[in-house]
Amino acid sequence: MTEITRRNSQTTEHDTLIIPFDNKINFSCQTYKRAAEEVSTVLKSGLFKGDYQEVYSLSTIFEGNLLNIVLLGLGEKENLENRDIFLSFSKAFSICKGLKSNNVKVLLDNASNILNKYEIIEKICESALLANYDFKNYKTITANNSIKEIEFETTYENFEEALKEAEICGNCTNLARNLINQPSAFMTPAQLAKEAENAKKYPHISVSVLDKKKIEELDMNAFLAVGKGSPNEPKLIVIKYTNGTDNKVISLIGKGITYDSGGYCLKSPDSLPTMHGDMAGAAAVIGAMLAIAQMELKINVTGIIAACENKISGDAYVPGDIVKSMSGKFIEINNSDAEGRLTLADAITYAIKIEKTDVVIDIATLTGAVITALGNRTAGLVTNNDKLADITLKASKIACEKVWRLPADKELRHALDSNVADIRNSSHDRNDVGGNTILGGLFLQEFVNNKPWAHIDIASTGWTSEDLPYCRKGGVGFGTSLLYNIVKLMSADEI
Ligand code: BES
Ligand code: ZN
Ligand code: MN
Repeated sequence: MTEITRRNSQTTEHDTLIIPFDNKINFSCQTYKRAAEEVSTVLKSGLFKGDYQEVYSLSTIFEGNLLNIVLLGLGEKENLENRDIFLSFSKAFSICKGLKSNNVKVLLDNASNILNKYEIIEKICESALLANYDFKNYKTITANNSIKEIEFETTYENFEEALKEAEICGNCTNLARNLINQPSAFMTPAQLAKEAENAKKYPHISVSVLDKKKIEELDMNAFLAVGKGSPNEPKLIVIKYTNGTDNKVISLIGKGITYDSGGYCLKSPDSLPTMHGDMAGAAAVIGAMLAIAQMELKINVTGIIAACENKISGDAYVPGDIVKSMSGKFIEINNSDAEGRLTLADAITYAIKIEKTDVVIDIATLTGAVITALGNRTAGLVTNNDKLADITLKASKIACEKVWRLPADKELRHALDSNVADIRNSSHDRNDVGGNTILGGLFLQEFVNNKPWAHIDIASTGWTSEDLPYCRKGGVGFGTSLLYNIVKLMSADEI
């Protein structure tokens, strides 16, 4: 665990200094003179200009000990978004990790003209926790190279408050990463339910887990169809947080496919090895619920996860099947790999009918097409409500998790028309309108009964196959901070 503190001391026990600069490269920090000579030599040399994401690191010996100095360029103030600053600090902390730093001091005040807002300070603290994360459960030999102590030297007045929120959000995102990174043989629907039950220890939270029999009694046949091919039974996980000043309920619904083989529409060997990550939406919901509870937000939120495995067996559902969803709508299944929307449709109906929800927000690794549309740094948003879109996009900026709105284009809806049922779960290649991410959204929209609804497709961002400054290869935990911030904004602002 990394310990983060504020201290304005002149102690010299640190093995690494991070010094942020804007592109005017002044070294103005008066309280920490230890590195002054080295730093001014570099600044005079012209080797470091303080440009965006520019890093110059040097190592020197001070009082007989090694001292690493990381000069971090932030760039020009006018051009910077919060995410840029978040990426820069994530990079700096990753470099410290590479240097095997134990005690890092960050001279935040050196760029205090840029680093002076609550949201920025919060995210910088969070970046330290995110960049430090490793999933090591299955490494018998581990080099423990996570940074042990990080001290911020800052005169920013609300630092402690920002740090508290950062620790809660950062640790919840890292928890979501742990859930995603576990292989499906361990992270079964039952195990995911157990993990969710840990939320019970926080005030205002209750967790219930409904087994297959209960799910059958509720008539959630679309959900049940997906799970039929697996001996690991489905679980409906409901996490209720009740701390609102009124009776309004927001539902956060996470796709919880603990393994997506594609079913009889089997996936290719290239895509199978990461398909235990098809519960990244569920992980984000669990992470966000834990953050909401720890921050004691004044609001009612229900997290809902229809958890199951999409596998093949003699019992599995097959293309051509027709199921009666909990809503009463018949769905023709023409693609067993478009399974997430079947589970979500019933989860949405459950939210509306049983939990009497007023607002529906779902988050899901739903379509590969969102990667093509937006690239692997941005999630897709499809919604029927402009106000909810505004809130989501605002939260996205605060969370430094990128989201882009796609249209809920009703002109494409006919691609889901079925010859035999009310709707089919995917379009057909011979009659292709494209826009698979939008179609995924349009399918879900059929089940929201015109309630304010937002669908966040994180197939692009839930998993990373490259090392990012704030996340090594694997589960990203994307959406934990986004959902938390959506709910936080909604707890302050009526919708
Ligand atoms: N879980 C996948 C989507 C996915 C793809 C997640 C890549 C992460 C990375 C989803 O269940 C799926 O298979 N979607 C299909 C939908 C199609 C059949 C309409 C897809 O994207 O091909
Ligand atoms: Zn899937
Ligand atoms: Mn699938």
